[in-house]
Amino acid sequence: MGMYATHVLPRIINAACGAKSAAPLRKRVCEGLHGDVVEIGFGSGLNVPFYPSEVTGVAAIEPADVGWNLAQQRVAASEVPVRRSGLDGQKLPLPDASFDSAISTWTLCTIPDVAVALTELRRVLKPGGRLYFVEHGLAPDEKVQRLQHRLEPLNKRLFGCHLTRDIVGLLTDSGFTIIEADVFYSDGAPKSFAAETLGVAVSP
Ligand SMILES: C[S@@+](CC[C@H](N)C(=O)[O-])C[C@H]1O[C@@H](n2cnc3c(N)ncnc32)[C@H](O)[C@@H]1O
Repeated sequence: MGMYATHVLPRIINAACGAKSAAPLRKRVCEGLHGDVVEIGFGSGLNVPFYPSEVTGVAAIEPADVGWNLAQQRVAASEVPVRRSGLDGQKLPLPDASFDSAISTWTLCTIPDVAVALTELRRVLKPGGRLYFVEHGLAPDEKVQRLQHRLEPLNKRLFGCHLTRDIVGLLTDSGFTIIEADVFYSDGAPKSFAAETLGVAVSP
């Protein structure tokens, strides 16, 4: 990985994902978390202030050292213990059936082999464990989808991020059962980048 990916991009992500408009979505997505939690694509720890008191500990999976370092103040201020427990959602160094909940916020767009990462999440979740997620992806409208397909190659080069992933489809193909999925455009960004899916999926 070059300097841009290791040093610059995590700071861009920290600023972009730290937008005030994301806070209500983070609050909503974190609400149901409980017990031992695995968070993939932990980034700079922007979900940490929203972890509910029912969470006993968080295993943070994050490849970017700069992201992890930017998270340190939030981690230190948190009553929930957070440990960096891996670098790659595609290969979790964690035992089978060891987590009650999982969380992913704006990360499934980035992981290269997202199907493998979701299979890993299912492996480490206990039966009945829930994945709480908010992700941007393929828009519900065809006109926006066409623009997303045009923008995707540049977006991947600049931000390492896909625009056209079908979040519900990926989750169901990986064996999750969706029990809630709210699809909407978030405020403050063009629709191509703002087609969100927020919900809960169960690993049977
Ligand atoms: C758009 S950011 C979202 C960060 C954070 N979840 C948030 O809501 O602010 C995507 C994150 O996924 C991380 N990431 C990239 N590849 C990954 C992988 N293979 N496994 C786990 N995380 C990965 C990036 O380093 C980045 O922190």
